[in-house]
Amino acid sequence: MALTYFKRFRMELDLAACEPVRSPVPEAYRMVPWDPSLIRFHAEAKYRSFRSEIDANVFPCLGNLPGCLRLMDEIRQRDGFLPEATWLLEYIGTGHRGREFCGTVQGVSADRGYGSIQNLGVTPHHRGQGLGTVLMDWALSGFQSAGLHRAYLEVTARNRAAVRLYERMGFTRVRTSYKAVEVVCT
Ligand SMILES: CC(C)(COP(=O)(O)OP(=O)(O)OC[C@H]1O[C@@H](n2cnc3c(N)ncnc32)[C@H](O)[C@@H]1OP(=O)(O)O)[C@@H](O)C(=O)NCCC(=O)NCCS
Repeated sequence: MALTYFKRFRMELDLAACEPVRSPVPEAYRMVPWDPSLIRFHAEAKYRSFRSEIDANVFPCLGNLPGCLRLMDEIRQRDGFLPEATWLLEYIGTGHRGREFCGTVQGVSADRGYGSIQNLGVTPHHRGQGLGTVLMDWALSGFQSAGLHRAYLEVTARNRAAVRLYERMGFTRVRTSYKAVEVVCT
């Protein structure tokens, strides 16, 4: 075993300054509000979004379905879990892929009026159409409905697509940290 250090940014957004609104959802998609019966679909969308990405190395549970199910269960049982900031994205178009759940985000209320964004993910075939931005907008607007003032998230520095998306939405880097992960040497 060897230790690898992944650089991570904490990013924050002042919700009062940006006034997130629920941006329109592209025609072939629909946003599905949280319901406990959907936990498996959230976990599957999370798994298919993260399994081939850098964060599956940083957080190995993201690289397998049982791990994503456990994570979803742990998130929804937290005291601050916010159903209104938790969304599943469904593709309802008639393309060859058919109907499927293709994006997920969860929101949790933390201390001092902060909302924490958990595991924003869009599955690979559906990326680059603004859907990650839509999911984030809807989660942020859920934070506002819950009376929260600031949003924060943690992102791996090498995850350029995610860092760009967050910066485009107005998040700024407030802290850098390093997460140590044990990797098997081959
Ligand atoms: C990060 C992630 C959620 C982004 O999802 P996405 O749906 O591709 O996000 P968006 O489409 O909103 O933004 C991505 C790009 O599409 C572009 N875009 C935005 N709206 C668009 C539209 N209507 N049409 C076409 N392109 C659009 C954006 O400009 C952006 O371009 P950029 O690469 O220059 O920033 C996705 O890559 C993902 O799931 N990654 C793996 C999981 C992960 O790492 N999550 C983050 C954990 S912190």
